[in-house]
Amino acid sequence: MQYEIHREYEEMSRRAADVIVEEVRRKPDLLLCAATGATPTRTYELLGERARDERQLFARVRVIKLDEWGGLAPEDPATCETYLRRHLVGPLSVSGDRYFAFRSNAEERHEECRRVEKLLDAAGRIDLCVLGLGMNGHLGFNEPGESLTPRVHVSELSETSMTHPMLREAKGRVTCGLTLGIGDVLRSRRVLLLVNGAHKREAMRRLGERRITTAFPASFLWVHGNVTCLCDKAAAGVTAAE
Ligand code: F6R
Repeated sequence: MQYEIHREYEEMSRRAADVIVEEVRRKPDLLLCAATGATPTRTYELLGERARDERQLFARVRVIKLDEWGGLAPEDPATCETYLRRHLVGPLSVSGDRYFAFRSNAEERHEECRRVEKLLDAAGRIDLCVLGLGMNGHLGFNEPGESLTPRVHVSELSETSMTHPMLREAKGRVTCGLTLGIGDVLRSRRVLLLVNGAHKREAMRRLGERRITTAFPASFLWVHGNVTCLCDKAAAGVTAAE
């Protein structure tokens, strides 16, 4: 894992957007796996600006949603769907045939996971997987526990996830998580892990222990050969003067 420590969130986000654009230039039909949440918001905004400047840049990019809150209506303000449409899929004009996503309100959740798994298998390997780091080390909704699930699945959400800031604006009640599995993430050609803010310092410290354990799913990124972790000084625990 290559760490890059940036001064603050803005600089980290600019670097993340540059990495994504570089990868798109290398492979215009790149399959991008997209996390939601607070961390990647500025990165996606910057990609939206690039899309405005260069209309064709993302014309062939494909996007797969990393995870979703099960039980909410798709238009609920808290869904990953609402987030991605607002911050990424809309601004980059990703057409329906290039966007693969869980339906938050699917009645048959396991069926929904099989559907997304088939979409992923047909689309091929993820080229670039953009991840955030859960406070408890979760990746997507691969939650800490005795074991991890390799492929797309319904996950029982941890207490930490149930108090995720995204859910503050939820109108409905979340019943589970729908998520790509740890194996799907680890098969990505490249992983971009974004981490910012002092509240992530403890999670960063645990990641830095390089001890692979299902109790901290992000530790599995240490088995992947191509992970770039972009973080800010606050998350890295570096004081502003350093
Ligand atoms: C959301 C997701 C989660 C978040 C993680 C960090 O799609 O996959 O694993 O990436 O909880 O969330 P933020 O960025 O809000 O701190």
